[in-house]
Amino acid sequence: MAQDDNSGHELTTASSSAVDVHRTGDPGTAVIIRDEVENPGFPPHRPRVTDLDPKKERRAERTVYTLFYLSIVGSVWAVAAYMAFPINDNDPGSVRLNNLFIGIGIALALLAIGIGAVHWGKSLMHEKEGVDLRHPVRGREATTERAVEIFRQADEESGFNRRTLVRNSLIGALIAFPLPAVVLFRGLAPQNQDPVELLSQTMWAKGVRLTKDPSGVPIKASDVTLGSAFHVIPEGLNEKEDRLEQKAKAAVLLMRLKPEDLHISKGRESWSYDGIVAYSKICTHVGCPVALYEQQTHHLLCPCHQSQFDITHEAEVIFGPAKRPLPQLPIMVDADGYLVARSDFTEPVGPSFWERH
Ligand code: FES
Repeated sequence: MAQDDNSGHELTTASSSAVDVHRTGDPGTAVIIRDEVENPGFPPHRPRVTDLDPKKERRAERTVYTLFYLSIVGSVWAVAAYMAFPINDNDPGSVRLNNLFIGIGIALALLAIGIGAVHWGKSLMHEKEGVDLRHPVRGREATTERAVEIFRQADEESGFNRRTLVRNSLIGALIAFPLPAVVLFRGLAPQNQDPVELLSQTMWAKGVRLTKDPSGVPIKASDVTLGSAFHVIPEGLNEKEDRLEQKAKAAVLLMRLKPEDLHISKGRESWSYDGIVAYSKICTHVGCPVALYEQQTHHLLCPCHQSQFDITHEAEVIFGPAKRPLPQLPIMVDADGYLVARSDFTEPVGPSFWERH
């Protein structure tokens, strides 16, 4: 009789039972062979030093809450560093110091919470092995009662309510940890300025010339040939101290189409000049530069998430996640033949936001 080298089970038994199944089942029934893998059971329990020695248990507890307190210190450190080492304009050294000290604080806060939690789990929480049998996922009364029981058991085994210092220090660390993020994100907002007003206004105003980006050379209407596209900035932008912030709002794309290809809505008849139109280059999805102009179809493509805008229909969205057309810059030609703005944009440029009118 053949035997399996590892299990010692008789192979013939399995094969004969398989044959039985085959014989008794309907034609086409799969042959099912018994799963011969044995349940190895739990490994022998080995008590930890903290299970055997109350002194070591107390020491582990001290280590855990010290780590959580350390995390609080890290979070507070990061907030203090944000204030103590501000980023100054044109001072790369200040950026380095700011990043260094905030980074140290956040790293300390995160590491201490992580190490503390692992140490708590490994040295103090109950380590009894348990078996969770699979059962149907249904919200029955018995399930709810069992869930409550599990919570109680987890509470008892982890000592969450019993070890108040550990619990409170962990809660404190978790509350303190997001504080640096709040402070850092607040720092991204405009300082002492109404953000709605700030986002609603750009450098464009009546009579401001359209100039080439980045040279700042003014553009004549005669320079813009049919099918061409120009990346445009307002005249004087390069002399501005905050030119990058201004450019992020005022960047424009200039294109010339056949006038008969443009579908102009009522009230916008004077916003273009002989087929020359100007649209904000800032995508209305999340603000990437819409830099790709497809000359044949007159579509503008945003490379970030593939939003497409149809220039023949006032830059309406024809594909992608953007939700509104690119704002149009009203333009005209001055006495010297240069293209100038008629006014600022009539709506905020870039991504939509709550207070956008
Ligand atoms: S930023 Fe343009 S499609 Fe997302």
